[in-house]
Amino acid sequence: MKLFLDTAHLADLETAKGWGILEGVTTNPSLAAKEGLEFADLVKEITGLVPGPVSAEVTDETADGMVAQGKDLAAIAENVVVKVPMTREGVTAGSRLVEAGIPINVTLVFSPAQAILAARIGATFVSPFLGRVDDIGNDGLGLLRQIVEIYAVQGYETEVLSASLRHPQHVVESARIGADIATMPFAVMDKLFNHPLTDIGMERFAADWEAYQQALADKRS
Ligand code: G3P
Repeated sequence: MKLFLDTAHLADLETAKGWGILEGVTTNPSLAAKEGLEFADLVKEITGLVPGPVSAEVTDETADGMVAQGKDLAAIAENVVVKVPMTREGVTAGSRLVEAGIPINVTLVFSPAQAILAARIGATFVSPFLGRVDDIGNDGLGLLRQIVEIYAVQGYETEVLSASLRHPQHVVESARIGADIATMPFAVMDKLFNHPLTDIGMERFAADWEAYQQALADKRS
């Protein structure tokens, strides 16, 4: 399972890239709005920074408008993936963009039926929003499990991109279920490192090393 960041914040993208684990980026209009840059400039910056796929979302409500926006976004860089919403207009636009050779990510997916539609139009990625499903008292991981099962049974090539992840356990369970990609906020990726026994182990190694060096120094003097 690949690890993507769900952010448009360049400093966080640089940090994760430095860790050597960043394989792609997803953005959405809410995330872009926080950055205060022209959207095309922001997408250009992110695509230059991250070699993997960068999802950039259309905002028009009509299929024609989404196709036009999607073509403009795809022209920014080769690694742009156009994000279209799971609406009738979005699916119409998505199928036209796929026909034009532009990769798409179908977003705002909340049911297995919607995920089937995304696969049938040849989406590169389908994005079920696990956290938002949990937020209304339903089972986000259960949704992911159904989509992964259907895609395996049917042999769909669309990659399942587990999204709206809120904590490390969402990432771990997405991997167990068989998601192709997990996209997460920076804070969640950062927490993947944490374990108290690692911290205790580091403290103990440092203390033992210091005592060892001191003993050698005492012996020399
Ligand atoms: O970008 C798609 C998705 O991951 C959004 O997550 O946290 O706003 O539900 P969230």
